[in-house]
Amino acid sequence: MNGDFVKWEDAKVPILTHALHYGTGVFEGIRAYPSKDNLNIFRLKDHIIRMMNSAKIYYMNSKYSVEDIINRTVELVRKNNLRTRTYIRPIIYVGYKDIGLNFTGFPINVAIIAVPFGDYFDTPMLKLRTSSWKRLSEQSIPPMAKACGNYLNSVLAKLEACRDGYDDAIMLDTQGFVSEGTGENIFIVNGGELITPSYSSSILSGITRDTVKYLANDLCLKVIERQITRFELYTADEAFFSGSAAEIAPIVEVDQRMIGFGKTGKWTKKISAAFQEVVTGENPKYSKWLTSVY
Ligand SMILES: Cc1ncc(COP(=O)(O)O)c(C=O)c1O
Repeated sequence: MNGDFVKWEDAKVPILTHALHYGTGVFEGIRAYPSKDNLNIFRLKDHIIRMMNSAKIYYMNSKYSVEDIINRTVELVRKNNLRTRTYIRPIIYVGYKDIGLNFTGFPINVAIIAVPFGDYFDTPMLKLRTSSWKRLSEQSIPPMAKACGNYLNSVLAKLEACRDGYDDAIMLDTQGFVSEGTGENIFIVNGGELITPSYSSSILSGITRDTVKYLANDLCLKVIERQITRFELYTADEAFFSGSAAEIAPIVEVDQRMIGFGKTGKWTKKISAAFQEVVTGENPKYSKWLTSVY
């Protein structure tokens, strides 16, 4: 917290922390994966740069640089002696000074948390519903800033889906096109092409999404970024989510319509296998994306 290593039980924040009341924080979700002889953090720099850009949108200037946060993150994982699959959550948030929305002059805090973390979903084959809640729109709040407050939108969609017996939700943008999951980007495969919503569909510019584009290229699978209709989603040959927490998660059903053959599709399998090779350090082409901890 703010540069110091603090024991879990002592890592406390004041009850009038601005971010707790108004959602004024920006954060990242990052994974680290064991390789044969190390633990490697995946695309750490890209995540920290995205967090700094999210902070910029909200005028949250911390005194720490990208390099400072990268170095502290590596030290933190090492200090905790984490060697299995790990989740890292850096957060920049507005602290306590007073009451009121204008946080000028308030402390801008930086904390990093690292914990062991396995699979995000309980099931390897997702059944989803389209949310009745639209993904937040550019006209109200920037969807590309990964800000704490944005997640109330995701929480509404996630709870609705789970309470209805689904694994997660697909959110549409305010025009009714497919946007993304509650914490994942979405891809469909149709007619031998990989299609994903573009930035104009209120998505977060996912780092896993970006990774998938490289991997599809390597597999000679054409990638297209454009608006996707519900019809295209229901009638796709394959569909999957991508995300740091979710990794590559096959979607087999949406709104009680089977996707493809109702099992993990062939391209989804290939991309998932290629992704695992990259994150576990078995593909030297992408070793530049790995930060070794030990
Ligand atoms: C709303 C939302 N969309 C997409 C993603 C996927 O982004 P990434 O691949 O960078 O984890 C996330 C997770 O961070 C998310 O919270």
